[in-house]
Amino acid sequence: MIPSATARLILETARIEKVVADFLALRRSGANLTALCPFHHEKTPSFSVSPVRNTFKCFGCGKGGNAAKFLMEHEGYSFPEALRWLARKYNIEIQYTTSTPEQLAAHQTEESLFILNDFALQFFQSNLPGTGLEYLKSRGFTEATIQNFALGFAPDSWDGLTKAATKAGFKLEYLQKLGLTTSSGKDFFRNRVIFPIHNLSGKVVAFAGRILQQNTNSPKYLNSPESDIYHKSQTLYGIHLAKRAIRQQNECLLVEGYTDLIALHQAGIENAVASAGTALTTEQLLLIRRFTPNLHILYDGDPAGISATLRGLDLALELDLNVRITPLPHPEDPDSFLRKVGIAAFTRFINTQAKDFIAFKASILLTDAGNNPVKKANAVHAIVDSIARVPDPVKRSFFVKDCAVLVGLKEDVLAEETNKILQALAKKGNSPFGVGDKPDSARVNSPLGAGGVERQLVRFLLEYGSETFDAKENITVAEHILGNIEDILEYFEDPICQCICRESIELVLAKQPVTAQYFIAHEDLAVSGFSADLLHQSTIEPDPIWERTNYFSGNNPDETGYLGGIAKTICHLKLKVISQHCEQNLQRMKDIAPDDEQAMTRLLKVHEKLNRMRVELAKSLGLVKI
Ligand code: UTP
Ligand code: MN
Repeated sequence: MIPSATARLILETARIEKVVADFLALRRSGANLTALCPFHHEKTPSFSVSPVRNTFKCFGCGKGGNAAKFLMEHEGYSFPEALRWLARKYNIEIQYTTSTPEQLAAHQTEESLFILNDFALQFFQSNLPGTGLEYLKSRGFTEATIQNFALGFAPDSWDGLTKAATKAGFKLEYLQKLGLTTSSGKDFFRNRVIFPIHNLSGKVVAFAGRILQQNTNSPKYLNSPESDIYHKSQTLYGIHLAKRAIRQQNECLLVEGYTDLIALHQAGIENAVASAGTALTTEQLLLIRRFTPNLHILYDGDPAGISATLRGLDLALELDLNVRITPLPHPEDPDSFLRKVGIAAFTRFINTQAKDFIAFKASILLTDAGNNPVKKANAVHAIVDSIARVPDPVKRSFFVKDCAVLVGLKEDVLAEETNKILQALAKKGNSPFGVGDKPDSARVNSPLGAGGVERQLVRFLLEYGSETFDAKENITVAEHILGNIEDILEYFEDPICQCICRESIELVLAKQPVTAQYFIAHEDLAVSGFSADLLHQSTIEPDPIWERTNYFSGNNPDETGYLGGIAKTICHLKLKVISQHCEQNLQRMKDIAPDDEQAMTRLLKVHEKLNRMRVELAKSLGLVKI
């Protein structure tokens, strides 16, 4: 673990403009710097770096955050990896906390496993000349490709690798942990061509070995088992080589096999990854989504391929990926098809034959159903079931339209079906809107909705927190805001706003200033991203409702500018909480036994008091005129 004080030091030392400049050509534009956004395709720069705030933000695609966030997005690093990169750049020494011996041991084990995999890689590579190299060449792979993918060969020997590794000082236990050595002490990969499998940052986590000649006794490919450093469900073959191209082309091609992927890259199609023969997992799709929302699946059109594709599809839709599918002419796979028709025809084919998921699923299911009405109805339900998983309501309604035409039903019939499924999904807590999200209607973040006001308050807090509110009393703006909302903080709806306010209270108690920089450099990425985002919204866009309520004029006529805004924001938040209390109290009045007069009197008193407070607040906000 990197201690949080070190993480903070790293994030505060890192200069966003210097970090970004390592990857992009920046141009000065006023106080900021701009560039073409590396995260989406654009012709005019909307990617902006603010040295003052020490953050970046793209106004085109919305990505933004601190230096660590930039590295995570751009290089695909994990947070600790990004911190380590920054620490190296700024010569900051990381003293890892050794909180428990177990953690330290785990860290050391992991490092040792990576080192051992590197050793194995070199062993396989050095054994390539001869049988292995001939095989790969016979399949048309060039020296450069073989180098690029670090392909190798496991010799036909019982324990060549195991012996070499133990002789070099590696523990047998670790060889077995990685599955390189079997429980009986033999080499796992023998007489096979080796395809190393890398993680996103390019470290070898596992291997696959292909048999030279297909026979029925042993599987064509052997794959390393899961280990502390290899989680199959989180890995995509080739991602470390593909990530840049995927982002630049804003599309990810997905194929099944190792050799398919290598063939595509060799032909210059570098925005491709391989699922390595298993059904897609959510983790893999999330990995893709870090680089692009557009997924293009190329699959071998046999029945097994089709059902695997359909399974992966619904998952991809739930994650709001745009999915296109190109079935290849049976029995070709991308590698064989590419070799057969050449790169130009291949590219033309996948660009013209790609179908969006609805057309694809519909064509397969409807063809299957033929004229059988029961089967047809089932097919329609299956299609609608997929549509219901699309989180974006606009996209969803387009799919409903398309689908209606395809299946020959009225649009509103399908829309109703979709809504039924949506409701059922929402009831099961399985809604396609992400964890804890609310259905559409509740998701509207109106400036007067609680979320909007809470954000507004946090914005004031971060932007002006360290300024003086009352010089005589020596009170800062942060102290003023927090003192006013402390008792309603528990009712906040936005957990990040709540968390920032809570931590600000601690800062105030510790006599530390509450600043935007503090939260932008926060080790919780949700907090730092949120803060950066908030401050990058350069001006608060006045909503018509806010203007009507004189939002920015302040409740005291003398108060202008942000102090007035703060006063109103606090009023709004209080009003919301009090209104909630009012409702609860009314509910209680309905619930009590009709003859319980004592309770009724008590509740009535509470009601009056709450109502008075409500009217007062509403008046000061100009919401009621008296
Ligand atoms: P394929 O059988 O289509 O092989 O399996 P391929 O990729 O075309 O390989 P070549 O061209 O014959 O060399 C597709 C993928 O399924 C996984 C591998 O990832 C393979 O690339 N697979 C297949 C296995 O893991 N084990 C196997 O025994 C077979
Ligand atoms: Mn193949």
